[in-house]
Parts: sequence; structure tokens; C-alpha cells
Amino acid sequence: MKALVLAGGKGTRLRPLTYTMAKQLVPVANKPVVHYVMHHIAEAGLRDVGVIISPETGDQVRESLAPNPWGFTFTFIVQDRPAGLAHAVKVARDFLEEDPFVMYLGDNLIGQGIGEFVRAFRESGADAAILLKEVADPRMFGVAQLNGSGRVIQLVEKPQDPPSNLALVGVYIFSPAIHQAIDQIEPSWRGELEITDAIQKLLEQGRPVQSFLLQSWWLDCGKKDDLLEANRVVLDEWITREILGEVDEESKIYGRVEVSPGARVEGSTIRGPAIIGEGTRVKGSFIGPFTSIGRGCEITDAVIEHTVILDGAKVIGVSRLEDSVIGRNAVVRKQVTNHGAFRLMIGDDAEALL
Ligand code: G1P
Repeated sequence: MKALVLAGGKGTRLRPLTYTMAKQLVPVANKPVVHYVMHHIAEAGLRDVGVIISPETGDQVRESLAPNPWGFTFTFIVQDRPAGLAHAVKVARDFLEEDPFVMYLGDNLIGQGIGEFVRAFRESGADAAILLKEVADPRMFGVAQLNGSGRVIQLVEKPQDPPSNLALVGVYIFSPAIHQAIDQIEPSWRGELEITDAIQKLLEQGRPVQSFLLQSWWLDCGKKDDLLEANRVVLDEWITREILGEVDEESKIYGRVEVSPGARVEGSTIRGPAIIGEGTRVKGSFIGPFTSIGRGCEITDAVIEHTVILDGAKVIGVSRLEDSVIGRNAVVRKQVTNHGAFRLMIGDDAEALL
């Protein structure tokens, strides 16, 4: 079985960050989202991994995956335009050959591995397996309708009037039968070839489609609030206390805090769960729970909580920064006396004077 990871697309819902960065590389607890995806694929025992990339951000994705701690054989496949998930499968046709494959959207994060899902599919002889999760607003997703015995009877992409609250999670498994189904679908109202429509085709042809209800959490990291939520959940569940950098005597570190090698904490308080990246300097500051600070950042005289700060950013003299996402090498600085709390979403290299 192969794996196909989708790391292309435009990431319009995470601008301004995604003007300069692939949405699948946005860090959650200081690790690009797509690295969690790769970890799940490796755990499930798959090794042959195709990665769909876009012409704009493909090189960044390749570079981020180059250390390859998973020992994969990677095949990078350029999708020249974001024409849909089924279009991505078409573009990957030569790589996929006649093998079954897991398709995993590179901006989706789930709280459990996919090993069981893969095993159940292998035993079932089904042509597709989908993962479902109850959501509050299914209109933003593909939605499944089940019959009384829990079998999928219909799938619709982003319905105005959803037949259930069961959304399609961005992890699928297919037999090669999906290719003929894709050949039979037309672009949707948003001009994309939808994988949801191709699975619906399989259903109409009487082909077996298996569904599983995801027990753990699921986050689609394509938007600011989802990204902050993903950061909160991952820090909460997966971070352990690990102080590898330097912490001076005046500083206090409470709870599960990771201070990475080469980081320096001076005269500051850090309350976990939180992570401070390599080479970052935190001085005279309070870093509150659910905050991830990237590599090479400078945080001075600031109070920060529930925030994601990307590599190389500076936050200086800010009385309170919360629920924010700060891009790479951005600068947030207080200019006048101002004691308010700030919520910001700023892109790479931006400068905010508060
Ligand atoms: C895509 C799929 C949708 C699925 C979602 C999961 O939506 O089309 O069916 O529920 O991923 O993240 P998109 O992100 O393209 O809007």
C-alpha cells in the first residue's frame, strides 16, 4: 500500500501567513502540521509516499521533508493548479499504479494513528474507506449520510442543507477502483474535482465503501482559530517537561514546558504547556499556557498567552498578546504607553507598532 499526502493548494483561509508559506508547513507546537501526518503514515507501516506539491510552495515542502526521519521513499508530484482532491489523485496516477493507497490531507491533524484504519481496510475488501467525525457546522465539509445499520448511503460536498453532522475527515483509503470513478465525475460548483463526488460514484455503482467514526479529536489547521486550537490540543496532549536550554535563577518554569537546546530564559516566568524553540531568547517576560514560540525569536518585556509565534519573530514591550499568530521574522513592538490586550494575525516580515 502507498500513501499520497496532499501538500499543495493555496491556503486562502490562513492568509496572510500562506502568502509566503505552504499551509501544511505552519507549525503546531513548533512542528509543521505535515510532519504529524508523516508520523502517522510511518506508524502504519507505509514507506512509499507520494507528496502533491504546488509550483509556488513545492520547494519549501521538499526542504521541510528532506531530513526524512521516517525513512520514506518520497515521490514529489507537482499539481499545477488547486483543481481539487480528485484532480490530485489523477495527477498522481503514474505514482499510484494499481496499488491501494491512503490519501491524507497535509493540513489535517487527528489525535490517533491510522494503523487500525489501514488494517480494517485490508481485511474488508472494500474499494474505499472514509473517516467521519461529528462537527458543529457540517456545511464546510464533505458530509455522509448513513442508514439505520450505519452504512454509508450518500456523500455530499459542502451541502447547504446537511443530511447529518458527520463530516469527512481528510484521511481516506482507496483501491484502484477510485481511478475509474474519478474519470466519471465533473467539476463541482467551486470548479474542483471533488473526491467526495468520486466516492459517491463508487456508492452508486454498488461498490463497498467502509466508514469509521473517528474517536479522537480532528482539526483542520487551515484557519487561524483552528490553528490556535490545534496548538492548544497538541501542547496539552503531547508536550512533556524538558529543559534543554538555559534558564537563569530568577526565572520560574511551571508545568510541562519544553525549553529547546540553545534557548535562554532570563528573569521570566513560563507556565506550561508551552514550548520555546532553539536559540530563542525570552527576557523579563511572562509566557502563559498554550503558547509555542519558534526558533531564533526574541521576546522581551512581554506577556504572551495562547499564541503561536513563528521562527525569527520579535515581540518587545507588549503588555499582553493573546490568541495571536505572528509570522516569521515579524516584529511586534510597543511604541506608546498602552496597557491593552492585543489579538493579532500577522504575516512573515510584518512590523506591528502598538
Ligand atoms: C476537503 C474535502 C472535504 C473534507 C475536508 C477535510 O475540503 O473536500 O470533503 O471534509 O477537506 O479537511 P477543503 O479543505 O478542500 O475545503
